Amino acid sequence: MLTDVFNLVNLVASEVNQMKVKILKVLRESGDYISGQVLSKKLGISRVSVWKHIRNLKEDGYVIESSAKGYQLVFSPDLLLPCEFPGWEQKVHHFRETRSTMSVAKELVVKGAQEKTIVIAESQTHGRGRLGREWISPRGGIYFTLILRPRISPMYAPRLNLMASVAVARAIRSRYGLKAELKWPNDVLIRGKKVCGILAEMGAETDVINFVNLGIGINANTSVSQHEKRATSLKEELGKEVSRKEFLNSVLKEIDEGQPLLTKGDLLEEWRSLSATLGRDVRILTLGGEIIGQAIDIDSTGALILRSEDGTLNSAIAGDCIHLS
Ligand code: BTN
Repeated sequence: MLTDVFNLVNLVASEVNQMKVKILKVLRESGDYISGQVLSKKLGISRVSVWKHIRNLKEDGYVIESSAKGYQLVFSPDLLLPCEFPGWEQKVHHFRETRSTMSVAKELVVKGAQEKTIVIAESQTHGRGRLGREWISPRGGIYFTLILRPRISPMYAPRLNLMASVAVARAIRSRYGLKAELKWPNDVLIRGKKVCGILAEMGAETDVINFVNLGIGINANTSVSQHEKRATSLKEELGKEVSRKEFLNSVLKEIDEGQPLLTKGDLLEEWRSLSATLGRDVRILTLGGEIIGQAIDIDSTGALILRSEDGTLNSAIAGDCIHLS
């Protein structure tokens, strides 16, 4: 019963978001005033309905001027609203502030949320990082959790982290021309400093994955290097703010394209080619202790293979990686 109500509320919200995407597209393409009548004809809805959606967009922070000539979009807020993600708008849950998108995603999973549902927050009060750390999440960053239900063996689950980190690095390289690299297991670095972190939570049985919630935090328009010397942001690297919605659209596109590669060797090849870890001396801190050695490769499950000084090979499935050389 509760799930039915949840689905109904989601359905209505997603239809509203779809219409907002369409209205924004028409207003942006026109760049000028466009009459209510033309809008209603183009969108196949009544003029009253057009007016209601415009009012809704204004409430979201869009500045839309209305005059006898019709409507004109003059300003879009820098918010990661569902209507800014064409193709995904039906599955985006947006929060101005929340504790952690991981917690919201977990609740949605329990309610049966579909594959590729996304929880986005403008800021988080209790953002979570790997190994129980805090992820400080002020406005200006990009914080989201993507719910995936991949039909792959749980053994391959770590590959989702690899795929997500490759997607973020690719988006940074193609959009801004910055040399984004990967630090095992799933940090994205620029000039050796962390710009993005990924946290995965999984629910699985012996041979099936029920869900993987991929939490991604990107230092976009924040000033992180003041507090954390080993971190940077896109704004700090470029010397100017970025469009967070354009960047997140690029990341989602890369993830979409990366998913079919999950069980293929190409993904590992791509990770290797972007890696800042392979070839270096590293220290891996795991729950069971530490391993020191030269990082020589990753295996088919994404585990890091290390060669110690005496030539012994070890592999690390999870842990914190410190580059020593
Ligand atoms: C890391 O420690 O490197 C992983 C950081 C992951 C942070 C993201 S932000 C969105 C999602 N919500 C959270 O609370 N954490 C993840």
